[in-house]
Amino acid sequence: MWGAAPPKRFGDFQFRGRYLSKNSSGATIVGLDIGTTKTCAVVATATSNGLDIIGVGEAPCSGLRKGVITDLEETVRSIEAATEKAERMAGVNISHVYVGVTGEHVRSTNNRGVVAITGEDREVARNDVRRVVEASKLIDVGNDRQIIHTLPWHYTVDGHDGITDPIGMSGARLEVDTHIITGGNTFITNVLKCVHRAGLEPAGIVFEPLASSAATLLAEEKHVGVVLLDIGGGTTDIAVYSGGGAIHTSTIPVGGNILTNDIALGLKTTFVEAESIKRTIACAINEPTGEDFSVKTLDGRTTKTVTRAQLRAIVAPRLHEIFRMAKTALTTLPRDVMLAEIVITGGGAHLRGIEQAASEFFGLPARIGVPTAVGGLTDAVKQPEFATAVGLVLFGPKGDGAIWHAGKSRSPFSGIAAWFGDLWN
Ligand SMILES: Nc1ncnc2c1ncn2[C@@H]1O[C@H](COP(=O)(O)OP(=O)(O)OP(=O)(O)O)[C@@H](O)[C@H]1O
Ligand SMILES: [Mg+2]
Repeated sequence: MWGAAPPKRFGDFQFRGRYLSKNSSGATIVGLDIGTTKTCAVVATATSNGLDIIGVGEAPCSGLRKGVITDLEETVRSIEAATEKAERMAGVNISHVYVGVTGEHVRSTNNRGVVAITGEDREVARNDVRRVVEASKLIDVGNDRQIIHTLPWHYTVDGHDGITDPIGMSGARLEVDTHIITGGNTFITNVLKCVHRAGLEPAGIVFEPLASSAATLLAEEKHVGVVLLDIGGGTTDIAVYSGGGAIHTSTIPVGGNILTNDIALGLKTTFVEAESIKRTIACAINEPTGEDFSVKTLDGRTTKTVTRAQLRAIVAPRLHEIFRMAKTALTTLPRDVMLAEIVITGGGAHLRGIEQAASEFFGLPARIGVPTAVGGLTDAVKQPEFATAVGLVLFGPKGDGAIWHAGKSRSPFSGIAAWFGDLWN
């Protein structure tokens, strides 16, 4: 929707610096994924080959529902526990963190910006690119929301489209198509409040599917056309890439925990037993073999026998419902977008048979996405549930999710506290 210039509620200055903590061997970058089931902090350090993971800390978290904070104290406790573990492993003091955000309050849209190329030689300069991206942000986001990301997709110079880097090209008119992601102020404020109360400074915020994509998707996949589904505990985050850039991002308020609930209700057992059954026995597809298994009743005193078919009749329909919701989100894609693959990540990707189930449902080849593109302690993070946290260190410093704050800060780190003023306490 076209409208007035975006409101700049937190002042007219966006800090774009990289926030780095220090250790004895140099600067480090920290990602903080505050999830519905766990908080995960990942510490990375830059090397000549890219990023090396030097520390990982994980702690259970029950302070969120559907990606949104419902219990500040519990969330703060979880952040403290996860970052302390990461600090110990990495041997650094963590100060600044790139924070993941998700939840139904996050929305995305595509927009176009247009400017005249003004330089004397009519060559596109860096400033023209900056101006056209700013022009694409002229959408009415409402008073209770802010833009989190503006991701340029393609540039067009004098009608020639599909340009990824227009700098130096000659022309009179520069256009850009951008993917714009907005979030609800109060939801974001609560996340940042928890980060701050845990003694940390937010370096930037990143919509979580962008982070998960940075950790798991290959450049080639993003070019050809790919859907990422990050099935977490309480949310399923979606990102679609085509032509090298993000063209759709969204989140649905259901994740793998609903399968556990359904198993507990369907088999009349405890959540602990249901979670264990989901992780060890449940399967998303029709298995030709598989023995019956015994399940503890709610009081834990007796057991009953359940067949694999009974379990599948609980799990498969719910998984298909999650897939259906994701497919509905994809109906908003432009008709000419071609998709060649689906990548499943997040802890929910561990469900046995999910690759085949997703492939059959979406009619696309499917694979499980685990974090790649990093070195160092890769064994500690080579699981789908670490995709977001690893992606935060990859995407955070490069992304545009730096935090809005009031006034031009004196030091890189002093402004953020001023920005939210007394909101923190
Ligand atoms: N082996 C497994 N089989 C099936 N599901 C699994 C398995 N291991 C973990 N899960 C599920 O993965 C989910 C947690 O995933 P993840 O750690 O990515 O979530 P999160 O980041 O805490 O939550 P969210 O992203 O929704 O805020 C839980 O529902 C958990 O039961
Ligand atoms: Mg998650």
